[in-house]
Amino acid sequence: MAVTNILTMDNLSCEQILGLIQRAIALKHGAQPHYRPDLYVSNLFFENSTRTKCSFEVAQRKLKLNVVGFETSTSSVQKGESLYDTCKTLESLGVNLLVIRHPEDSYYQQLHGEHLEHHLNIPVLNGGDGSGEHPSQCLLDLMTIYEEFGKFEGLQVAICGDIKNSRVARSNYRALTRLGAKVVFVCPEIYRDDTLGEVVDFDEVIGELDVCMLLRIQHERHHADLKQAQTFTKAEYNQAYGLNPARYARLAEHAIIMHPAPVNRDVEISSELVEAPKSRIFAQMHNGMFMRIAMLEYVIAHNQL
Ligand code: CP
Repeated sequence: MAVTNILTMDNLSCEQILGLIQRAIALKHGAQPHYRPDLYVSNLFFENSTRTKCSFEVAQRKLKLNVVGFETSTSSVQKGESLYDTCKTLESLGVNLLVIRHPEDSYYQQLHGEHLEHHLNIPVLNGGDGSGEHPSQCLLDLMTIYEEFGKFEGLQVAICGDIKNSRVARSNYRALTRLGAKVVFVCPEIYRDDTLGEVVDFDEVIGELDVCMLLRIQHERHHADLKQAQTFTKAEYNQAYGLNPARYARLAEHAIIMHPAPVNRDVEISSELVEAPKSRIFAQMHNGMFMRIAMLEYVIAHNQL
Protein backbone atom coordinates (compact mmCIF):
# COMPACT_ATOMS: atom_id res chain seq x y z
CA MET A 1 0.00 0.00 0.00
CA ALA A 2 1.34 3.47 -0.90
CA VAL A 3 2.05 5.65 2.14
CA THR A 4 -0.18 8.72 2.62
CA ASN A 5 1.91 11.71 3.75
CA ILE A 6 1.25 15.43 4.14
CA LEU A 7 4.31 16.97 2.50
CA THR A 8 2.90 19.84 0.43
CA MET A 9 -0.54 21.44 0.22
CA ASP A 10 -0.91 19.72 -3.16
CA ASN A 11 -1.21 16.40 -1.27
CA LEU A 12 -4.66 17.58 -0.12
CA SER A 13 -7.77 18.27 -2.19
CA CYS A 14 -9.94 21.30 -1.33
CA GLU A 15 -12.44 18.88 0.25
CA GLN A 16 -9.71 17.33 2.39
CA ILE A 17 -8.48 20.78 3.47
CA LEU A 18 -12.01 21.78 4.47
CA GLY A 19 -12.42 18.44 6.27
CA LEU A 20 -9.26 19.06 8.31
CA ILE A 21 -10.47 22.57 9.17
CA GLN A 22 -13.87 21.26 10.31
CA ARG A 23 -12.23 18.55 12.41
CA ALA A 24 -9.77 21.01 14.02
CA ILE A 25 -12.64 23.38 14.86
CA ALA A 26 -14.63 20.49 16.36
CA LEU A 27 -11.60 19.50 18.48
CA LYS A 28 -11.28 23.12 19.61
CA HIS A 29 -14.90 23.01 20.73
CA GLY A 30 -14.44 19.86 22.77
CA ALA A 31 -14.65 16.86 20.43
CA GLN A 32 -12.66 13.86 21.74
CA PRO A 33 -9.40 13.11 19.92
CA HIS A 34 -9.12 9.60 18.48
CA TYR A 35 -6.73 8.28 21.14
CA ARG A 36 -4.00 5.87 19.98
CA PRO A 37 -1.84 4.86 22.94
CA ASP A 38 -0.48 1.94 20.88
CA LEU A 39 1.34 4.13 18.34
CA TYR A 40 4.82 5.69 18.44
CA VAL A 41 5.83 8.98 16.82
CA SER A 42 9.05 10.95 16.60
CA ASN A 43 9.72 14.59 15.70
CA LEU A 44 12.92 15.08 13.70
CA PHE A 45 13.77 18.77 13.63
CA PHE A 46 16.95 19.54 11.72
CA GLU A 47 16.14 23.28 11.97
CA ASN A 48 15.18 25.30 15.03
CA SER A 49 11.52 25.53 16.00
CA THR A 50 9.38 26.60 18.93
CA ARG A 51 5.79 26.53 17.63
CA THR A 52 5.78 23.64 15.18
CA LYS A 53 7.78 21.23 17.32
CA CYS A 54 6.04 22.01 20.64
CA SER A 55 2.62 22.18 19.01
CA PHE A 56 3.05 18.75 17.36
CA GLU A 57 4.28 17.36 20.65
CA VAL A 58 1.27 18.69 22.61
CA ALA A 59 -1.04 17.37 19.85
CA GLN A 60 0.62 13.95 20.03
CA ARG A 61 0.27 13.80 23.82
CA LYS A 62 -3.42 14.81 23.54
CA LEU A 63 -3.84 11.83 21.18
CA LYS A 64 -2.04 9.69 23.81
CA LEU A 65 0.62 8.77 21.25
CA ASN A 66 4.04 7.69 22.54
CA VAL A 67 6.52 10.43 21.65
CA VAL A 68 10.07 9.15 21.06
CA GLY A 69 12.46 12.01 21.81
CA PHE A 70 14.96 12.95 19.11
CA GLU A 71 17.45 15.84 19.11
CA THR A 72 19.79 16.20 16.14
CA SER A 73 22.52 17.62 18.38
CA THR A 74 22.77 14.41 20.45
CA SER A 75 21.83 11.92 17.70
CA SER A 76 24.01 9.90 15.33
CA VAL A 77 23.37 12.57 12.69
CA GLN A 78 26.47 14.08 14.33
CA LYS A 79 28.41 10.94 13.27
CA GLY A 80 27.38 11.39 9.64
CA GLU A 81 24.19 9.29 9.51
CA SER A 82 21.99 10.30 6.58
CA LEU A 83 18.39 11.52 6.83
CA TYR A 84 17.15 8.33 5.16
CA ASP A 85 19.14 6.07 7.50
CA THR A 86 17.92 8.04 10.53
CA CYS A 87 14.28 7.66 9.44
CA LYS A 88 14.71 3.98 8.47
CA THR A 89 16.28 3.32 11.89
CA LEU A 90 13.25 4.80 13.68
CA GLU A 91 10.93 2.77 11.41
CA SER A 92 12.92 -0.38 12.32
CA LEU A 93 12.51 0.41 16.02
CA GLY A 94 8.72 0.48 15.63
CA VAL A 95 8.04 4.20 15.25
CA ASN A 96 4.81 4.49 13.23
CA LEU A 97 4.92 8.12 12.07
CA LEU A 98 7.48 10.91 11.69
CA VAL A 99 7.24 14.69 11.72
CA ILE A 100 10.27 16.19 9.96
CA ARG A 101 11.62 19.72 9.54
CA HIS A 102 14.71 20.01 7.36
CA PRO A 103 16.61 22.90 5.71
CA GLU A 104 16.72 21.17 2.30
CA ASP A 105 13.88 21.93 -0.14
CA SER A 106 11.88 18.75 -0.90
CA TYR A 107 14.06 16.65 1.48
CA TYR A 108 11.21 14.11 1.52
CA GLN A 109 11.90 13.03 -2.08
CA GLN A 110 14.75 10.85 -0.75
CA LEU A 111 12.41 9.02 1.66
CA HIS A 112 9.37 7.81 -0.28
CA GLY A 113 8.51 6.98 -3.86
CA GLU A 114 8.28 4.11 -6.29
CA HIS A 115 11.37 5.47 -8.10
CA LEU A 116 13.52 4.66 -5.06
CA GLU A 117 15.12 1.24 -4.67
CA HIS A 118 14.88 1.63 -0.89
CA HIS A 119 12.23 3.70 0.81
CA LEU A 120 10.38 4.36 4.06
CA ASN A 121 7.17 2.50 4.83
CA ILE A 122 5.94 4.92 7.51
CA PRO A 123 4.24 8.27 6.86
CA VAL A 124 5.83 11.70 7.20
CA LEU A 125 4.22 14.98 8.13
CA ASN A 126 6.32 17.84 6.76
CA GLY A 127 7.15 20.37 9.49
CA GLY A 128 8.79 22.64 6.90
CA ASP A 129 11.31 22.00 4.09
CA GLY A 130 13.78 24.79 3.39
CA SER A 131 12.04 27.44 1.30
CA GLY A 132 9.64 24.79 0.00
CA GLU A 133 6.41 24.36 1.96
CA HIS A 134 5.03 24.43 5.50
CA PRO A 135 1.69 22.59 5.28
CA SER A 136 0.84 22.50 9.01
CA GLN A 137 1.36 26.27 9.25
CA CYS A 138 -0.75 26.77 6.14
CA LEU A 139 -3.58 24.61 7.49
CA LEU A 140 -3.66 26.44 10.82
CA ASP A 141 -3.65 29.74 8.91
CA LEU A 142 -6.57 28.51 6.79
CA MET A 143 -8.41 27.43 9.95
CA THR A 144 -7.90 30.89 11.46
CA ILE A 145 -9.16 32.61 8.29
CA TYR A 146 -12.14 30.24 8.01
CA GLU A 147 -13.12 30.85 11.66
CA GLU A 148 -13.13 34.57 10.94
CA PHE A 149 -14.90 34.70 7.58
CA GLY A 150 -16.55 31.27 7.14
CA LYS A 151 -15.28 31.12 3.54
CA PHE A 152 -12.24 31.68 1.30
CA GLU A 153 -13.96 32.57 -1.97
CA GLY A 154 -13.44 36.23 -2.82
CA LEU A 155 -11.23 37.12 0.16
CA GLN A 156 -8.45 39.64 -0.49
CA VAL A 157 -5.19 38.50 1.11
CA ALA A 158 -1.81 40.25 1.10
CA ILE A 159 1.31 38.29 2.10
CA CYS A 160 4.03 40.76 3.02
CA GLY A 161 7.74 40.15 3.56
CA ASP A 162 10.53 37.89 2.36
CA ILE A 163 8.42 36.01 -0.18
CA LYS A 164 11.36 34.48 -2.08
CA ASN A 165 12.61 32.54 0.95
CA SER A 166 9.30 31.79 2.65
CA ARG A 167 7.77 28.31 2.73
CA VAL A 168 4.72 29.83 4.46
CA ALA A 169 4.15 32.20 1.51
CA ARG A 170 4.42 29.32 -0.96
CA SER A 171 2.00 26.99 0.87
CA ASN A 172 -0.51 29.73 1.61
CA TYR A 173 -0.44 31.17 -1.92
CA ARG A 174 -1.07 27.76 -3.48
CA ALA A 175 -3.83 26.73 -1.06
CA LEU A 176 -5.62 30.07 -0.78
CA THR A 177 -5.67 30.52 -4.57
CA ARG A 178 -7.13 27.02 -5.03
CA LEU A 179 -9.78 27.84 -2.41
CA GLY A 180 -10.85 30.98 -4.28
CA ALA A 181 -9.07 33.80 -2.44
CA LYS A 182 -7.17 36.57 -4.26
CA VAL A 183 -3.57 36.69 -3.00
CA VAL A 184 -1.12 39.53 -3.66
CA PHE A 185 2.39 40.13 -2.34
CA VAL A 186 4.13 43.10 -0.76
CA CYS A 187 7.94 42.93 -0.74
CA PRO A 188 11.14 44.65 -1.79
CA GLU A 189 12.49 43.63 -5.23
CA ILE A 190 15.17 41.43 -3.64
CA TYR A 191 12.53 39.27 -1.92
CA ARG A 192 10.08 38.84 -4.80
CA ASP A 193 9.34 35.48 -6.38
CA ASP A 194 8.00 35.75 -9.91
CA THR A 195 6.79 32.15 -9.86
CA LEU A 196 4.08 33.31 -7.45
CA GLY A 197 1.51 36.10 -7.83
CA GLU A 198 1.42 39.84 -8.35
CA VAL A 199 3.55 42.23 -6.25
CA VAL A 200 1.64 45.38 -5.25
CA ASP A 201 2.19 48.64 -3.34
CA PHE A 202 1.17 48.11 0.31
CA ASP A 203 -0.42 51.55 0.60
CA GLU A 204 -2.54 51.02 -2.51
CA VAL A 205 -4.13 47.78 -1.25
CA ILE A 206 -4.18 48.16 2.53
CA GLY A 207 -7.77 49.45 2.76
CA GLU A 208 -9.14 46.61 0.59
CA LEU A 209 -7.64 43.69 2.51
CA ASP A 210 -9.51 41.07 4.48
CA VAL A 211 -6.27 39.43 5.64
CA CYS A 212 -2.90 41.10 6.04
CA MET A 213 -0.27 38.38 6.60
CA LEU A 214 3.20 39.50 7.69
CA LEU A 215 6.34 37.39 7.35
CA ARG A 216 9.75 37.88 8.91
CA ILE A 217 12.90 38.29 6.82
CA GLN A 218 14.49 34.82 6.59
CA HIS A 219 18.09 35.90 7.22
CA GLU A 220 19.22 32.30 7.74
CA ARG A 221 18.38 31.47 4.10
CA HIS A 222 20.15 34.47 2.57
CA HIS A 223 23.31 33.80 0.58
CA ALA A 224 26.13 36.35 0.52
CA ASP A 225 24.76 38.20 -2.53
CA LEU A 226 21.38 38.76 -0.86
CA LYS A 227 22.98 39.81 2.42
CA GLN A 228 25.01 42.42 0.51
CA ALA A 229 21.88 43.66 -1.25
CA GLN A 230 20.09 44.36 2.06
CA THR A 231 20.38 48.07 2.53
CA PHE A 232 17.41 48.64 4.86
CA THR A 233 17.66 49.55 8.52
CA LYS A 234 14.90 47.98 10.63
CA ALA A 235 13.08 51.34 10.76
CA GLU A 236 13.36 51.84 6.99
CA TYR A 237 11.99 48.37 6.33
CA ASN A 238 9.10 48.93 8.75
CA GLN A 239 8.31 52.26 7.07
CA ALA A 240 8.40 50.87 3.52
CA TYR A 241 7.06 47.31 3.87
CA GLY A 242 5.95 46.73 7.46
CA LEU A 243 2.64 47.00 9.24
CA ASN A 244 2.94 50.14 11.37
CA PRO A 245 0.28 52.20 13.20
CA ALA A 246 -0.37 54.41 10.14
CA ARG A 247 -1.15 51.38 7.95
CA TYR A 248 -3.05 49.61 10.76
CA ALA A 249 -5.38 52.63 10.96
CA ARG A 250 -6.22 52.20 7.26
CA LEU A 251 -7.24 48.53 7.54
CA ALA A 252 -10.94 47.76 7.04
CA GLU A 253 -13.02 47.32 10.21
CA HIS A 254 -13.31 43.55 9.66
CA ALA A 255 -9.70 42.96 8.50
CA ILE A 256 -7.34 40.72 10.47
CA ILE A 257 -3.59 40.60 10.72
CA MET A 258 -1.67 37.32 10.80
CA HIS A 259 1.94 36.22 11.19
CA PRO A 260 3.28 32.65 11.43
CA ALA A 261 5.89 33.89 13.96
CA PRO A 262 8.55 34.15 15.24
CA VAL A 263 7.99 37.89 14.96
CA ASN A 264 10.83 40.35 14.55
CA ARG A 265 9.18 43.23 16.38
CA ASP A 266 9.48 46.69 14.80
CA VAL A 267 10.63 45.23 11.49
CA GLU A 268 7.75 43.56 9.58
CA ILE A 269 5.27 44.61 12.30
CA SER A 270 5.44 47.38 14.89
CA SER A 271 5.72 45.94 18.38
CA GLU A 272 2.51 47.55 19.68
CA LEU A 273 0.46 45.81 16.93
CA VAL A 274 1.47 42.23 17.77
CA GLU A 275 -1.49 41.94 20.19
CA ALA A 276 -3.67 44.69 18.70
CA PRO A 277 -7.43 43.97 18.37
CA LYS A 278 -7.11 42.91 14.71
CA SER A 279 -4.17 40.61 15.43
CA ARG A 280 -4.77 36.85 15.32
CA ILE A 281 -1.09 35.96 15.85
CA PHE A 282 -1.51 34.09 19.15
CA ALA A 283 -4.89 32.72 18.02
CA GLN A 284 -3.03 31.13 15.08
CA MET A 285 -0.67 29.37 17.51
CA HIS A 286 -3.63 28.18 19.63
CA ASN A 287 -5.38 26.85 16.51
CA GLY A 288 -2.18 25.14 15.40
CA MET A 289 -2.34 22.56 18.16
CA PHE A 290 -5.91 21.51 17.17
CA MET A 291 -4.99 21.45 13.49
CA ARG A 292 -2.01 19.23 14.22
CA ILE A 293 -4.24 16.78 16.10
CA ALA A 294 -6.49 16.72 13.02
CA MET A 295 -3.48 16.15 10.72
CA LEU A 296 -2.17 13.31 12.88
CA GLU A 297 -5.62 11.68 12.94
CA TYR A 298 -5.83 12.05 9.14
CA VAL A 299 -2.48 10.40 8.49
CA ILE A 300 -3.15 7.62 11.04
CA ALA A 301 -6.55 6.88 9.43
CA HIS A 302 -5.36 7.04 5.80
CA ASN A 303 -2.47 4.67 6.52
CA GLN A 304 -4.67 2.32 8.55
CA LEU A 305 -2.22 2.46 11.44
N1 CP B 1 5.72 29.32 12.51
C1 CP B 1 6.71 28.43 12.76
O1 CP B 1 6.99 27.51 11.98
O2 CP B 1 7.37 28.66 13.92
P1 CP B 1 8.58 27.78 14.47
O3 CP B 1 9.75 27.99 13.53
O4 CP B 1 8.83 28.28 15.86
O5 CP B 1 8.15 26.33 14.44
